[in-house]
Amino acid sequence: MDYLNSKSVDMILHNLTLEEKIGQLLQLAPFFLMKDIKVEIFGSVQELNLTSEKIFNSGSILGIGSAKDMISVQKKYLENSRHKIPLVFMADIVHGYKTIFPVPIALASSFNPELAYLTARVSADEATTAGIHVTFSPIADISKDPRWGRVVETFGEDSYLSGEMSKAMVKGYQQENIGLDNSLAACVKHFAAYGAPTAGRDYNTVSLSHIDLYSEYLKPYKEALDAGARLIMTAFNTIDRMPCTANSFLLRNILRDKWKSDVVTISDYNSLKEVITHGVAKNMKEAAYLGIQAGLDIEMQSTAYINNLPELIDKGIVDESLVDDAVLRILKLKKDLGLFDNPYKGAVLDDSKRVLTEENLDKAKKVAQESMVLLKNDGVLPLKKNTKISIIGPYANSRSIIGPWSWHGKRDLHTSLEDVLKDNIEYINENNKIEEYSSEDIAKIKESDLVIFALGEPDWLSGEAHSRTDLSLPNNQEKLIELAKKTDKKFIVLLFNGRPLVLNETLEANAIIECWFLGCESSSAIKNVLYGDVNPSGKLPISFPRNIGQIPYSYNYLNTGRPRLQNQSNEYVSKYMDSPNTPQYCFGYGLSYSKFKHSNLKLSKNRMNKDEVIKVSIDILNDSEFAGKEVVQLYIKDVFAKVSRPVKELKAFKKVEILPNESIEVAFEISIKDLIYQNILGEDTFDYGEFVVMIGSSSEEYLEEKIYLVEE
Ligand code: NOJ
Repeated sequence: MDYLNSKSVDMILHNLTLEEKIGQLLQLAPFFLMKDIKVEIFGSVQELNLTSEKIFNSGSILGIGSAKDMISVQKKYLENSRHKIPLVFMADIVHGYKTIFPVPIALASSFNPELAYLTARVSADEATTAGIHVTFSPIADISKDPRWGRVVETFGEDSYLSGEMSKAMVKGYQQENIGLDNSLAACVKHFAAYGAPTAGRDYNTVSLSHIDLYSEYLKPYKEALDAGARLIMTAFNTIDRMPCTANSFLLRNILRDKWKSDVVTISDYNSLKEVITHGVAKNMKEAAYLGIQAGLDIEMQSTAYINNLPELIDKGIVDESLVDDAVLRILKLKKDLGLFDNPYKGAVLDDSKRVLTEENLDKAKKVAQESMVLLKNDGVLPLKKNTKISIIGPYANSRSIIGPWSWHGKRDLHTSLEDVLKDNIEYINENNKIEEYSSEDIAKIKESDLVIFALGEPDWLSGEAHSRTDLSLPNNQEKLIELAKKTDKKFIVLLFNGRPLVLNETLEANAIIECWFLGCESSSAIKNVLYGDVNPSGKLPISFPRNIGQIPYSYNYLNTGRPRLQNQSNEYVSKYMDSPNTPQYCFGYGLSYSKFKHSNLKLSKNRMNKDEVIKVSIDILNDSEFAGKEVVQLYIKDVFAKVSRPVKELKAFKKVEILPNESIEVAFEISIKDLIYQNILGEDTFDYGEFVVMIGSSSEEYLEEKIYLVEE
């Protein structure tokens, strides 16, 4: 490899034939290189119209699982390819490699970017041992629609929170240098607005105004890129009726021209071919033309480029320089990753010192403990150490709680609730069907002090292509709650789910904990919260609707010309006849065992010009015997602007630890960057005049003051 390493990427490019260059743009699954494909040209190879020559020209591999496989695939490739430019191996390491951390929606509930960094750091340290070089993470899609199954993979509904978490993940994966043996390059996805499919149905059309795109949906991707993410993946959906994979507005005008980004762009799985199904290309040749013109570098697992670009270039229909630019970006990525020094970078056959270590499991537990959200508590929690419990419902003894997108995580390795709570369990039953609980069962439940219902969606019910039209707990699980009523017991509900749910009988619980899917340390983390060894501190990164009819919903809606106001006639206003407008649990909401009292909102001044800052602070008293963490949230509303502005937008948050009976001051600085927004062309703009600053414990509970942006 000295030969490659000593050359500039331009020189390497210069020595490649057109076919070899185009090969770099092809990403294939590893099995193409795991068989003796010279003799086995069949199945997918035939369908994709691949030859062994094309396969040995390909540039990257999708979804390798172990160092052994990586080493054998790379070796075979290098033996058979002319220039021996190493393959780069990419995979979906979304919330951990083998040590599985909370799913992203749970991680976002921690409102703690340091934990996102930690999650990504451990994931990279473990995944690189398998010879993986790039992860398809973070997911910077925001979503206001829990019908969409991939909400579980996102950081929720808010672009600022999603941006902060995405940024931290990128830094955790990449560290200061992707060339380090334990760094992964980050591929942010899915560009763009994949989280806003019409009616919540995965892959469906996205219809957003340009202002919505610029001021919300695009921001988290941009944050990830600014943090250094080296790749960006296109989304399956359309924007302006053009599939994102062949969308030159996104890939050229925004990414290259406006953001001046030179990241590698990659399609999603087969999504270049799918532009045909979208109806914007007649065949693979047209798909290849659209993709390369739009600025798509790597084609994942379809073969429009490899089979058609040579002819399109020969005929002068496509300019070869477009391919050269894409190949240069890919070669640079490989060089920066250090693959020209060591094509087997990272891969270690014995990963036991790095993977699933006690230390990593402890870190996973720490993150899990901060990712739960206490939705309700009438004082029943925390439990006393000797409380005898009945535990009922599908998650009472399930190990399927690590969450979707954990390809390398092993469910059986980790504990269930029964395993960790066994000393306190009087009665346990996983059965969903209330009819099957006998009078004997009821008698046993009576023996316990309290009932815990462990309810939720099966983990496969959320994720890609897993949208739902009904957001209640499946299989009538809430009926089980009758058992608590029949036995006259207090009850706690633990929720395991990948999206906000519509809760019905559950709302009658004495306490509700949203657990999401917390990874491999779920059970012990939950135990610690139940028994008060850990004080819950999560907040919701996405609103919980009261009913399905409210969706899509988000806290940062526009006022409308006829908002529903309290104490006024509400005849011709924006409302429902059968439901309040407000959600069941709002964005930013979450309780603690501590009682936090917010008071004394202070401004250093109430007028500023665009070069000044206003310091704003609030006092928070922990009026309880529990040390705890509070997420203090700063929202701003631009009262009169050139376009209608949201009723509030999250601009900053701080997670602070406060000791029992301690009072602390939490301060933020407001500057012009917090008042700027984007117009229809995506240009930054702002308005002089009045703004409302809100600081509080959720998007609905806060203290507020006015400030003014003035010219002088
Ligand atoms: C399809 C998914 O949409 C994407 O998120 C993932 O990274 C790719 N498949 C590769 O597995």
